[in-house]
Amino acid sequence: MTTMGSLIGLVNRIQQACTKLGDYGGSDNNNTFSSLWEALPSVAVLGGQSSGKSSVLESIVGRDFLPRGSGIVTRRPLVLQLHKIDDGENEYAEFLHRPGRKITDYAIVRQEIQDETDRITGKTKQISPIPIHLSIYSPKVVNLTLIDLPGLTKVAVDGQPESTVQEIEDMVRSYVEKPNCIILAISPANQDIATSDAIKLSREVDPSGERTFGVLTKLDLMDKGTNALDVLEGRSYRLQHPWVGIVNRSQADINKNVDMIVARRKEVEYFETSPDYGHLASKMGSEYLAKLLSEHLEKVIKARIPSITSLINKSIEELESEMDHLGRPIAVDAGAQLYTILELCRKFERVFKEHLDGGRSGGDR
Ligand code: GDP
Ligand code: NA
Ligand code: MG
Repeated sequence: MTTMGSLIGLVNRIQQACTKLGDYGGSDNNNTFSSLWEALPSVAVLGGQSSGKSSVLESIVGRDFLPRGSGIVTRRPLVLQLHKIDDGENEYAEFLHRPGRKITDYAIVRQEIQDETDRITGKTKQISPIPIHLSIYSPKVVNLTLIDLPGLTKVAVDGQPESTVQEIEDMVRSYVEKPNCIILAISPANQDIATSDAIKLSREVDPSGERTFGVLTKLDLMDKGTNALDVLEGRSYRLQHPWVGIVNRSQADINKNVDMIVARRKEVEYFETSPDYGHLASKMGSEYLAKLLSEHLEKVIKARIPSITSLINKSIEELESEMDHLGRPIAVDAGAQLYTILELCRKFERVFKEHLDGGRSGGDR
């Protein structure tokens, strides 16, 4: 792994350890650890209901594990951390609320997300701002934190109280307004972009567009004889980053259990053979979006390294004095977590120093 890769990996693990400490997710704790969390970038999907948010996240991960479908399926935020592990190690998923249970079957992951959603929302169509935390450890992923969010709506449906519309917007906004949040603003191509909730809210919270990526889903569902070239080529709704067009699995594909590999191949074929989009084929699709995101993330983390480093140094000081009080904890969970964070921070500092030294001697990139 490159030094940058291991720094990103460490950032990811520090975020996870801070999460375990309970300093993130709706809490107002304003200490060093939550600042540390805030300093680290994550990627959230923003869009109307059924615009394809969960589908896009799954494509980026390249795994089939989210509840999907028409209607309000995503009713709690899902904070998904991808951790790259060494080649040859076995891939598994683990929920924060089920520590130690290593899941290798993604159908079980999906069921657990549904059950855990229902556990808090009581099988109604209610929503809850309390996030579900899931980690996937795999040699095939890039180190990344992704957040799946409930869809914005204009009217309450399925017997929800009228206040739900505003509650969803407030919850979604609390994620995407954070300066560390990279926004995937998702709009379905078969609806008028002028009415896109994703574009409207992203322009509000990120007026310069520096952390917004426009994603156009459902290109395959546009009316015959129409296309989305005006948007994809940046003539209308220009954003700072280029738009990416996507073709996810349809509901029929999902019902037929069309798997991710097949779906990705079909998506590539769709663009390569499309009379409208053929000339853009190399800059369209889920795999390209994933690549674009990881390049962007690397840039952002590089730029933030000085502030992350100073926060980490501050954390080390605070942690060391806290550890002095506690003594080296063995059974105390919070203490053990503090110790983990301290070790990770020290390691970050070490790798970062090596990175600088390597830079001075002309090594490493
Ligand atoms: P979310 O509510 O925004 O998370 O949307 P989902 O990812 O759950 O997708 C909603 C529905 O739209 C599902 O039935 C998907 O199969 C379907 N869908 C999503 N993206 C596409 C696409 O690009 N093409 C087609 N044909 N269907 C899609
Ligand atoms: Na949905
Ligand atoms: Mg969803």
